[in-house]
Amino acid sequence: MAAFVLPHLFFLFVLPYFSVAQTNGIVKLGATLTATEDATPWLSASGDFAFGFHRLDNKDLFLVSIWYDQVPDKTIVWYANGDKPAPRGSKIELTADRGLILSSPQGEQNSISDPIIGVVAYGVMNDTGNFLLANKNSEPLWQSFNQFTDTLLPTQIMEDGKFLSSRQSESNFSQGRFQLSRLNGDLGLRTVNIPGNFRNDPYYFLSTGNSSGSGSGSSSDTLVFNKSGYLSILRDNGHELVLSKGDDARAYDFYHRVTLNFDGVLIHYRHPKTKTGSSSWTVLWTVPINICLGTIENAGSGVCGYNRICRINIDQRPECECPRPFSLLDPADDYRGCVPDFVQDCVNEPSSASNLYDFYVVTNIDWPTSDYDRLEPYNEETCQEACLTDCMCAVAILRGNTCWKKKLPLSNGRLDTNLNGKAFIKFKKTNSSQNPALPIPGRNNQDGLVILMSAFLGTSVFVNFILISVMCLGFLLIYRNKLTTIGKAESVVERNLRCYTFKELLDATEGFKEELGRGSFGIVYKGVVQMGGSNIHVAVKKLDRILQDGDKEFKTEVNVIGQTHHKNLVQLNGYCYDGPHRLLVYEFLSNGSLAGFLFGDLKLSWNQRTQIAVGIARGLVYLHDECSTQIIHCDIKPQNILLDDYFNAQISDFGLAKLLRMDQSETHTAVRGTKGYVAPEWYRNMPITVKVDVFSFGVLLLEIICCRKNVDMEIGGERAILTYWAYDCYEEGMLHALVENDAEAISNRKKLERFLIIAIWCIQEDPSLRPTMKKVMLMLEGILEVTAPPCPHPFSTTGRS
Ligand SMILES: *[C@@H]1O[C@H](CO)[C@@H](O)[C@H](O)[C@H]1NC(C)=O
Ligand SMILES: *[C@@H]1O[C@H](CO)[C@@H](O)[C@H](O)[C@H]1NC(C)=O
Ligand SMILES: *[C@@H]1O[C@H](CO)[C@@H](O)[C@H](O)[C@H]1NC(C)=O
Ligand SMILES: *[C@@H]1O[C@H](CO)[C@@H](O)[C@H](O)[C@H]1NC(C)=O
Ligand SMILES: *[C@@H]1O[C@H](CO)[C@@H](O)[C@H](O)[C@H]1NC(C)=O
Repeated sequence: MAAFVLPHLFFLFVLPYFSVAQTNGIVKLGATLTATEDATPWLSASGDFAFGFHRLDNKDLFLVSIWYDQVPDKTIVWYANGDKPAPRGSKIELTADRGLILSSPQGEQNSISDPIIGVVAYGVMNDTGNFLLANKNSEPLWQSFNQFTDTLLPTQIMEDGKFLSSRQSESNFSQGRFQLSRLNGDLGLRTVNIPGNFRNDPYYFLSTGNSSGSGSGSSSDTLVFNKSGYLSILRDNGHELVLSKGDDARAYDFYHRVTLNFDGVLIHYRHPKTKTGSSSWTVLWTVPINICLGTIENAGSGVCGYNRICRINIDQRPECECPRPFSLLDPADDYRGCVPDFVQDCVNEPSSASNLYDFYVVTNIDWPTSDYDRLEPYNEETCQEACLTDCMCAVAILRGNTCWKKKLPLSNGRLDTNLNGKAFIKFKKTNSSQNPALPIPGRNNQDGLVILMSAFLGTSVFVNFILISVMCLGFLLIYRNKLTTIGKAESVVERNLRCYTFKELLDATEGFKEELGRGSFGIVYKGVVQMGGSNIHVAVKKLDRILQDGDKEFKTEVNVIGQTHHKNLVQLNGYCYDGPHRLLVYEFLSNGSLAGFLFGDLKLSWNQRTQIAVGIARGLVYLHDECSTQIIHCDIKPQNILLDDYFNAQISDFGLAKLLRMDQSETHTAVRGTKGYVAPEWYRNMPITVKVDVFSFGVLLLEIICCRKNVDMEIGGERAILTYWAYDCYEEGMLHALVENDAEAISNRKKLERFLIIAIWCIQEDPSLRPTMKKVMLMLEGILEVTAPPCPHPFSTTGRS
C-alpha cells in the first residue's frame, strides 16, 4: 500500500514547486533535460515557448531547440545541433562554468552556449522566445537570440556580421544553401556553396526590394523585427525602411516569425494565439516575388542546382524539376542537381548526328548563364542543326532570330513566361525510339473524307459549317505533317480523339466519385485513363443537356472541338457516345480554375495575372479568327479558365454553346452565359456576334485586375458593381482605390492603366464600339496604342448610386 501512496505524495509535494519554477521561466543550475519523447521541456512564463529536445521525423535523433509550444505543430524557431542531432538518451545540463552542456549516452560532451565569460547563476526561457543565461546580477552572458538559425522573432535584432541560414529541407536541420546576410554593405538573400561558406552574389536585395543592381546599403544597417511584428531596416542615418508590416493594434493576439525557408524564400508568418480549430500560420509577406528569376551574375548554380529548372508556384515558393532527359543525381537529396541520362559521344557529322540525337522542345525555359556561342540570324531549323552537329552543345535556345548554344552543367535554369523563346534539349535516341512510332494521321484523313463526302451529298444548313470544319482539318493536317519533322515533343499534337465506352469512363472515374466542378453543361469528374502505356489524369464532363438530337451533330461538334489545338485552350482527349450517355474527356489541369485564385485566399501575383489575361485573349483570338469556323464561346468567366502547372491560362467549355455559321445575322431568344458576364445584346434582341465574348472578357479582365467579383453586394455602396466602379476610378484617376493594396499593380501603373482602359473598351454597351479580340490582344501586349474610352454604359440608368 505504501508503495502506491508514496509516488502520489511525491507528486503532490513536487508539483507546486515545478509550477512556481515555470511561471517565471527560470531554469536553475544543475537542471537537466533528457532526450526522450515525453521529457518536459523548459517553458517560458506564459507557456508560449519551450526549450528542449525535439525528436526528428522517422529518426531516433533529437534536436536541441526552441519551439512555439502553443501552436499545434510546435513550430521550431531555433536549434542548436542541426548538423549533428543528438541520439536518444542524451542529456542537457545547466552548469555554472560552461553554461548548457549536451552529453551523449557515450559521454561525449559539447557546449551549446559557447562562449561564456563569467559565472552562470541561472537560465531563463524568456517569453520573447529568447533563452538566456545570466550571472548573479542578472546580466546576460549568452542568449539564443544572438545565435541565429533560420528564424527571426519579434524583438530580435540582426546586426552586422550576423546571418540567417536556411535548413536543408523541411525536416533536415543541417545547414542549407541559402543565407540572409550582409556582405559589402548589401543586406540580401544569397546562395552559399556548401560545404563551406562561400557566398554567391545576392539573388534578392532587402534594402532595395529587388534583385538587380546593388543593394546600396551600408554596413551599419540593422534588421529589426519589433514587438508589433514590423520588420524593418534601420539605417545609420536614422532612416527606417519598413519591409513588412505587422499589426500594431492586435500585435498581442498573434505570434509572428520571419523564416528563411529551405527553398530560399523569406516569409513573414503570423499565427493567432487563440486556439481555434483550424488555426495555422498565414503568410503576411514573401520575398522574392519570383525567386526563379533572380540575378544571374555570380549566382552559382542557381536556386535549384545544376541542370535543373526552377518554376514558381502560386504561393511564391519555387519548385525544382529535372527536365527530360535529366534525372536527379541523388534521389535522396533534392539540391544536388540533375545529370543527363546519356553520355554524348562526339559526333559532328550531320547525318550520323541526326541518327543518334534528337531534341525535346520546350517553351519559355532558359539557363541564362550557360551559353558559349551565339548565332544570328538563325531559325528553328538552323539552330537545331547547329546544336546537333556540335558535340559540346547540350541545349540550344532560340529567341527571335538569335540562337544560343549552351553547355553542361546548365545553371540558373528557370521557367520565365516573358521569355518568348524555345529550348531544344538534346537527347540520345535509343534503338527503339530511333524511328519513334508516331501516330499516323490516317484515321483522321478518313474521317475527313467521310465528312467531306457527306457534305457534298447533304443539303442541310450544316453543310457550310462542315465544309469549313473540313477545311480547318485539312489545314491542321498539313500543319501537322510539317510538325512531325520537328521532333518528338511536338508529337503530342498527334493524338487522336479516342472514343470511350460508358463502362470505361465509369471505371476511369471510379463511379464518378471525385467531382471537380459543375459547369453550365454538366458535372466534371476526375479520372485516370491509360494512354500510350501510362496512366494520365483526365477531367470527364458528363453532359446533362444533350445538344440537339442525332448522332451527326454530336460527333461533328466533338470533332471540331477535338481538332482545336491551341496552348490556351483545354485539349479534348476523347468522348463517349454510348446509349443515352454523352461525355467529353479533357486533359486534366492541376491548378484548377482561375476563380479559385482570384477570389480565394491564395492570390496570384500581378505579373501572373497579366500573363493569364493575355493567354485568355490569345485563346479567344484563336476561337474567333484563326479557324474559318468561328467559335463563339458565350460563357467566358473565371470558372471556365483553367490553369496548368505553369499557370498558363486555358479556356474550357468552348464549342459547346453553339457553333455559329459565318453569317452572324441570327438572333437568339434564349440567353446563354452567366449573369454578370453576359453582354446586353442578349436581352435586347440584337444579333449575337463574337462581341459577346469581348464583353465577357472585359468583365473578366476587370476581375483579374482587381481580384474581386464583378458584383459583390458585401462590398456595397458605389463599389458594389465593378464595371461601374472601375469606370469611376478611371475617370477620376483613382487607380489606387481600384486595386486597393496591390503594391505590385500600383508599381506597374502604366500597365495597370492600359489594362483598365482595354477592359473599359471591352465592356461598352454598344457592341460595335467594342474592339475585336485580335485588337484586344495586341493592346494587351502593348503592340497597339490604347486611346481614351467613352463611358461604357451611356444607356444604363439602373445600378448607379
Ligand atoms: C525577457 O526579455 C525582455 C526583453 O529583453 C526583458 O525585459 C525581460 O526582463 C526578460 N525576462 C526575463 C524573465 O528575463
Ligand atoms: C541531412 O542532410 C545531410 C546532407 O544531405 C545528411 O548528411 C544528414 O544525414 C541529414 N540529416 C538527417 C538527420 O537526416
Ligand atoms: C532595383 O534597384 C536598383 C538599384 O538601386 C535600381 O536602380 C532599380 O531601379 C531597381 N529596380 C526596380 C524594378 O525597382
Ligand atoms: C514597430 O515599428 C513600426 C514601424 O516603424 C512602428 O509603427 C511601431 O510603433 C513599432 N512598434 C513598437 C512596439 O515599437
Ligand atoms: C542498338 O543498335 C546498335 C547498332 O544497330 C546495336 O549494336 C546495339 O546492340 C543496339 N542496342 C540495343 C539496346 O538494342
